[in-house]
Amino acid sequence: MRENNLSIITTTKIREYKQTKKITMLTAYDYQVSVILNELKVDIILVGDSLGMVVLGYQDTLPVTMEEMIHHAKAVTKAANYSLVAIDMPFLSYQVDVKDAIYNAGRLIKEGRAGAVKMEGGKEIIDKVKAVVSSGIPVMGHLGLTPQHCCQIGGYKVQGKDSQSAKKIIEDAKLLEEAGVFSLVLECIPSSLSLEITNLVNIPTIGIGAGKHCDGQVLVINDLLGISDKKMPKFVRPYVNLNQIIKDAVRSFIKDVETSLFPSEEESYH
Ligand code: KIV
Repeated sequence: MRENNLSIITTTKIREYKQTKKITMLTAYDYQVSVILNELKVDIILVGDSLGMVVLGYQDTLPVTMEEMIHHAKAVTKAANYSLVAIDMPFLSYQVDVKDAIYNAGRLIKEGRAGAVKMEGGKEIIDKVKAVVSSGIPVMGHLGLTPQHCCQIGGYKVQGKDSQSAKKIIEDAKLLEEAGVFSLVLECIPSSLSLEITNLVNIPTIGIGAGKHCDGQVLVINDLLGISDKKMPKFVRPYVNLNQIIKDAVRSFIKDVETSLFPSEEESYH
């Protein structure tokens, strides 16, 4: 149980890990999963706005609100006294103006009790990133496939494949480093590009669908656990098929109730 925003893993440690070890990051949206990730010493727990798609059933991350992020962040941060918790700033909570960006990042820290926030984008939001960092809030950057731009990008496609878009991602990475982000998520870009960026910047890069050269890796916890039976992108490695395990368990429950095998005498009070 954590009483303040500080975990054993700080943003300073994450920066140091670039030289010393690969960084692990997983998403969590509730208390019990956070307890497990924290106990297993995952470096960073991300309350991602993927919350919208994997927990709340939205088609994309755009409808996610500050209230929804804070609600889930509170549950996750309660459990995390080892792992650093970063929270995604949801769509429209930082794009409009600098004042909004500081205020909403502040709410995620003050009410959600996170140790850092994550913001998607480069040059176009650099004034907001600088302002949030200057207000004392650690920021994690996010480049490549940025799901909050899915309408503009036209879906969920690999980014940085041609030299012009690769150049923009490289320039954005440099700008974000200068703006003071402590780490950088690189999503769905070719491994050669993530290698170039990882060698270029002094902050750690954390990849998802960005190959093995990043300083760390992140996955959505529901994907790692195989909870959905939908087809996953090729960068996802499901370590277990929880979808099947849950279905088998629920089928057994239905059968036992319908045949009066549950509850047994031992499972009843006398
Ligand atoms: O929202 C999220 O879960 C993320 C990760 C996939 C990096 O941004």
